[in-house]
Amino acid sequence: MEKSNPNKIAINFSIQGTTAIAASQSSLLSPAPTFARHLHASGGSKKIVGVFYKANEYASSNPNFVGCVEGALGIREWLESQGHQYIVTDDKEGPDSELDKHIPDLHVLITTPFHPAYVTAERIKKAKNLQLLLTAGIGSDHVDLNAAAAAGLTVAEVTGSNVVSVAEDELMRILVLVRNFVPGYHQAINGEWNVAGIAHRAYDLEGKTVGTVGAGRIGRLLLQRLKPFNCNLLYHDRLKMSPELERQTGAKFEEDLDAMLPKCDIIVINMPLTDKTRGFFDKDRIAKCKKGVLIVNNARAAIMDTQAVADACSSGHIAGYSGDVWHPQPAPKDHPWRYMPNHAMTPHISGTTIDAQLRYAAGTKDMLERYFKGEEFPAQNYIVREGKLASQYQ
Ligand SMILES: NC(=O)c1ccc[n+]([C@@H]2O[C@H](COP(=O)([O-])OP(=O)(O)OC[C@H]3O[C@@H](n4cnc5c(N)ncnc54)[C@H](O)[C@@H]3O)[C@@H](O)[C@H]2O)c1
Repeated sequence: MEKSNPNKIAINFSIQGTTAIAASQSSLLSPAPTFARHLHASGGSKKIVGVFYKANEYASSNPNFVGCVEGALGIREWLESQGHQYIVTDDKEGPDSELDKHIPDLHVLITTPFHPAYVTAERIKKAKNLQLLLTAGIGSDHVDLNAAAAAGLTVAEVTGSNVVSVAEDELMRILVLVRNFVPGYHQAINGEWNVAGIAHRAYDLEGKTVGTVGAGRIGRLLLQRLKPFNCNLLYHDRLKMSPELERQTGAKFEEDLDAMLPKCDIIVINMPLTDKTRGFFDKDRIAKCKKGVLIVNNARAAIMDTQAVADACSSGHIAGYSGDVWHPQPAPKDHPWRYMPNHAMTPHISGTTIDAQLRYAAGTKDMLERYFKGEEFPAQNYIVREGKLASQYQ
């Protein structure tokens, strides 16, 4: 793998043939907001706080490992050379946390979904200088978006930065569940040999019906990757894809989610956590799924009712559940998903590959640069802007 200096992050990167960061957004310029806190209110030195996971002994293992506290997105030298203060920590919980010490006077908070700083209404109220909340990655549900909008804050993320990383990971999780990989792995490390214990519920992916709930950037990439497996592909979304994209992905639109669920052998969740999707997969909705369904969820844990998932795994209604998202994060030791049968859970990792880190670090740097210059961000990055939430969060 090519090694590069993490302090020199390229600004542009290409996603699906489009340059995600760079496009002129001048047509999107609108009159200045009338909020108390203006995004581009003043120049001068800014206090920027980054909340990331700590890498400890792994910090120096790879010069491109920029997504951790130690790597600090590779932007420390650049920020400090411009006279800005940059504080980085993983200590984010409770009133005595390092984060809370800086809440009263920070201007910008950068965090990631992997180790999210929960930006509550209470924290927003205390953050008198706060102007900008940046998510180094995708998914800003760790922010109370309504409170941020009411306070006139801008919330933006690096849209598209890790969609390939997540889609690849979902494909892996589908195969891990379908082939019943995890018990086989445990046998290998435990000195056991019991083919029957795995084979009695291992299948081919070919010919199975896979439905994605949400077919945005990640959902579409997953569908494209599934096409060569000769599955029956379905998707549910609030928006229907163009006929051309439907042809490319080979997926059929299901307007009524509850009609799609009983058809699916495998369900993948690919929509954001919003007021509408919180707790969406509760006991009743899970009951509508086929008995023995496999579920992959790399979107957000709170889309599921935690206990309903654990109960359905115990009863066998869900035959396998895999994902990398939990609520809260880090997941407590007694989180029920750690102990439910037939799961293939991991910590939140799918969107923080080294490749993804370099892309979301570059995207974050690009937005900071624009913020300092008083320029617009790429339109697709805004989650809260001028008191309004992006359409799918409304
Ligand atoms: N695990 C990870 O590391 C990781 C990384 C990136 C993103 N994510 C999660 O994945 C989500 C999707 O990412 P994306 O880049 O594909 O986003 P996207 O905005 O491109 O796609 C989201 C899709 O969900 C659809 N949708 C929204 N609300 C819906 C609803 N109520 N019913 C049906 N469909 C609905 C939208 O129309 C859109 O097509 C993110 O919001 C984030 O929570 C996780």
